[in-house]
Amino acid sequence: MSAVHGAGAQAAELAERRWAWIVAAIILVLVATMVFTGVHWAAMPSSRVEVIDPRTLHMRGEFVEDNLGTTVDAQGQVTVRLVAQQYSFTPQCIVVPADTMVTVRGTASDAIHGFVVGRTNANVMLVPGFISTFRTRFTQVGEHLMPCHEYCGTGHEGMWGRVQVLEPAEFLRRAEPGKAVSCVPR
Ligand code: CUA
Repeated sequence: MSAVHGAGAQAAELAERRWAWIVAAIILVLVATMVFTGVHWAAMPSSRVEVIDPRTLHMRGEFVEDNLGTTVDAQGQVTVRLVAQQYSFTPQCIVVPADTMVTVRGTASDAIHGFVVGRTNANVMLVPGFISTFRTRFTQVGEHLMPCHEYCGTGHEGMWGRVQVLEPAEFLRRAEPGKAVSCVPR
């Protein structure tokens, strides 16, 4: 074997060794990530999981029909409650004040649904048996479409709601104390 060949083989071995270390490091990082997330999830489960019996939604509790829509409590806190079912949302049209912190609470009565509001970051899954909650602020006054975004059956693509974002003063004119309001025509 010539000296040139010997040097070439040595360089190749060095390069392979280097790549072996890089690959080992990548695998180590991936395994460490899996172990960390696994342990983290096991040690710190979600701090609040709210459950509800989907069979009695319409009979008692927070999601009875009279309570669906938007309410304003004595402290001025705005809460929207809605239920998703195949293939509609109740209420179909939701009113909220602009530039106001709004709490949205929703659940589903039959299958997994979900919704996204226009181009906002309001985006949630609605799962039977669980209450989904999020807080957000709608800044764009006007009407936004709210499609169901989880495949929920043959009528999925026809499952749409609407969200009307009103100027706060106009919203307050519509809000009735102790009553849930919506923009569903009566
Ligand atoms: Cu409800 Cu898709």
